[in-house]
Amino acid sequence: MPLIIRNPLLDLETFVASITNLRLRHPVQFNPYRAIYDDFKETTERRRSVTPTCDARDTILRKCGQSEPLEFADIYSGSALRQCRKIGEGVFGEVFRYKTDAGRAVVLKIIPIEGTLVVNGAPQKKFDEILSEILIALQLSSLRNDNEYMTSSFAEVIQVRCVQGRYPNHLIDLWELYRDHHRTANDHPEAFKDDQLYIVFELGNGGQDLKSFEFSNALQAKSAFQQAALALAIAEKKLQFEHRDLHWGNILLSPIDEKFVTFKLNGNTQQIPSEGVKLTIIDYSLSRMLSDGIVLYNDVSNNEGLFMAEGDYHFEIYRLMRINLDNDWQCFEPFNNVIWLDYIVDKLIDRARYKDTKSRKHRSAMKELRVIRDKITKNKSAAESVNA
Ligand SMILES: Nc1ncnc2c1ncn2[C@@H]1O[C@H](COP(=O)(O)OP(=O)(O)OP(=O)(O)O)[C@@H](O)[C@H]1O
Ligand SMILES: [Mg+2]
Repeated sequence: MPLIIRNPLLDLETFVASITNLRLRHPVQFNPYRAIYDDFKETTERRRSVTPTCDARDTILRKCGQSEPLEFADIYSGSALRQCRKIGEGVFGEVFRYKTDAGRAVVLKIIPIEGTLVVNGAPQKKFDEILSEILIALQLSSLRNDNEYMTSSFAEVIQVRCVQGRYPNHLIDLWELYRDHHRTANDHPEAFKDDQLYIVFELGNGGQDLKSFEFSNALQAKSAFQQAALALAIAEKKLQFEHRDLHWGNILLSPIDEKFVTFKLNGNTQQIPSEGVKLTIIDYSLSRMLSDGIVLYNDVSNNEGLFMAEGDYHFEIYRLMRINLDNDWQCFEPFNNVIWLDYIVDKLIDRARYKDTKSRKHRSAMKELRVIRDKITKNKSAAESVNA
């Protein structure tokens, strides 16, 4: 059996003791004098004390290729957003998808920032609080062009924008349409005033999340698992990356025609049979990465709410990560990626939906997934799991 807490009778401490020998601990030293990406020179700690928002604002504007925030109307006029609709939401804000004139589907993740208005029950993030998510998203997206550590399994960042102003009317109409058809937990965006700032991620369309996706058969699911494991292994090796929130809403799937999905790990090309499906990993709001000697991470050590939820392995993982990291969230603990892989294979076996459950190839691939589940937590890292 895999080393996971599915058995409520097994207490957490016993579980943790049982896997202690699998742990790696690589605390990363901060070097306050190294440059973070281009010219952003403050460490996380220093940023808090020295006019943080100002430095982060400049860095973000540079990453956006802007000198000042733009207005919605400059970029997202009603006519520019052809066939637009709202496709998702979170406490952070809203997600829309539209088609460009060239026919490309683009996803907009719109996050209000810096304002005093409480949005969807939470305070808005500041520039310095959204900075790491932006830098991580850009860095992971750029792995699709890396010669040694190549993967296109992290959402493509087409552009990041910093926008200011009232929510555009056509997006408000789409927001209301979604509310009327799906229900929403979010506040009405008409509450935003003229001076409201937003970060807008323009992303490639990754498809449907694992929760709602229906696989043809388990062969496809096995391919999805292999794609997730390789993507994590590559980012782990290149960037000491941990996703830290890889639940089935953050794994997207879409049909593809290509027979193989190509990866490069340490310069070695690996081709995974796609079985007609492409996996995309999204949402780095809890992620951690090392770049240019600087750790980018979200310090959730005091976020008690994150560690309180019960009822699914998903919620248990936040507590497991906290123990793995001794609640020091800047540390690198690649076993955290293994735990999320264990969660994914668990979902693929017990919860994912399949069109065909009768065929021999489905049953045989399902067996292989069970073998993976039995062994996955013997690995110390995602990288070790793909080399095993
Ligand atoms: N690139 C994308 N392609 C397709 N759908 C996407 C994409 N990015 C986001 N979505 C959709 O929007 C939903 C919310 O996005 P995301 O997971 O990034 O935010 P979140 O989990 O609510 O954010 P946070 O954890 O920062 O509050 C996703 O579950 C997915 O359905
Ligand atoms: Mg998410």
